[in-house]
Amino acid sequence: MAVTLDFQDKVVIVVGGTSGINRGIAETFAGQGACVAVASRSQDKVDDTVASLLKAGASKAIGQAFDVRDSEAVAAGLTFFHEQLGDFDILVSGAAGNFPALVADMSVNAFRAVVEIDLMGTLHVMKASYPFLKKPGCSIINISAPQGYQPSEAQGHVGAAKAGVDQITRVLALEWGKEGIRINSVVPGFIADTEGMKRLSASEESLAVSIDYTPLNRLGEKTDVANMCLMLSSELAGFVTGQVIEVDGGLYLRGSSLFGKALGDMLRAQKT
Ligand code: HXC
Ligand code: NAP
Repeated sequence: MAVTLDFQDKVVIVVGGTSGINRGIAETFAGQGACVAVASRSQDKVDDTVASLLKAGASKAIGQAFDVRDSEAVAAGLTFFHEQLGDFDILVSGAAGNFPALVADMSVNAFRAVVEIDLMGTLHVMKASYPFLKKPGCSIINISAPQGYQPSEAQGHVGAAKAGVDQITRVLALEWGKEGIRINSVVPGFIADTEGMKRLSASEESLAVSIDYTPLNRLGEKTDVANMCLMLSSELAGFVTGQVIEVDGGLYLRGSSLFGKALGDMLRAQKT
């Protein structure tokens, strides 16, 4: 039997979907004829993304600006998406903040900012979406990061937050499984042309190290991550839930702690 993936008119919500990897995910679902909604803080980025989703082939595209740290704003935004599009078939939660900083050198507020965006933001999105999830059938994907399981210098804030995101994924797989909701984390490795790589791997030299460090010997593309999201949201993955799935060219096998050491060394050198 030929396998077909059919996302025509499926309702896909991508929180943090207005740039980088998450926008790539939104555009990929749009290319499959889905109804796609995106959200982030910037109305300009939301408007620009909605236009690109329609161009990519979305059967409908809408957006709303909100900050995932504000639980009431998240609830209002997701209610608006539900009013406009109906129950959610697919929910992707990927809003995140990151910068390289050693724990001793960053303010408590700096650590908190990242935890509030990545971890509390994910919680707000999960809780506010719950009444609107298609039951049975919804596929939820939380976008995580290798730092969540691989301790990396200068990434204590992100590591703590993403470890929490992955545990939310596992717990909700247990709590919501009976209702036919599947939830998984997707962990991108080093992905080309993204804000994350710009912030953590800015120089040509460190990009070359990232490539060398990745067993498949290349950076990932946004489509590599988006294709996994398509697969996970299809019937092909109908018995997959509670998993943390790397899309990283094998980086997991090697671990990324040397990458973290390079970041730590860079920051320590800047202090001397
Ligand atoms: C130390 C810093 C800092 C830095 C900000 N802060 N940048 N501390 N080093 N480089 C501190 C500030 O001084 C402040 O603390 C606190 O963090 C909050 O900063 P604000 O600018 O007030 O916060 P806000 O405007 O809310 O912005 C949040 C942000 C920002 C996280 C700081 O960078 C952001 O909006 N990022 C979103 C986009 C992004 O980061 N994308 C990359 C995702 S990549 P004080 O004490 O002064 O108040 C990713 C994984 C990549 O997640 C993995 C690659 C392998
Ligand atoms: P990005 O382009 O900066 O994407 C982050 C998105 O989140 C943007 O749309 C941003 O839009 C939004 N956002 C940030 N803070 C927000 C907030 N408080 N409220 C609402 N929206 C917010 O970064 P990226 O590099 O593509 O990363 C995307 C995801 O992949 C993140 O979850 C990241 O942790 C993960 N990841 C990336 C890499 C990589 O190689 N780049 C590797 C591992 C994991 P606004 O700024 O307009 O709000």
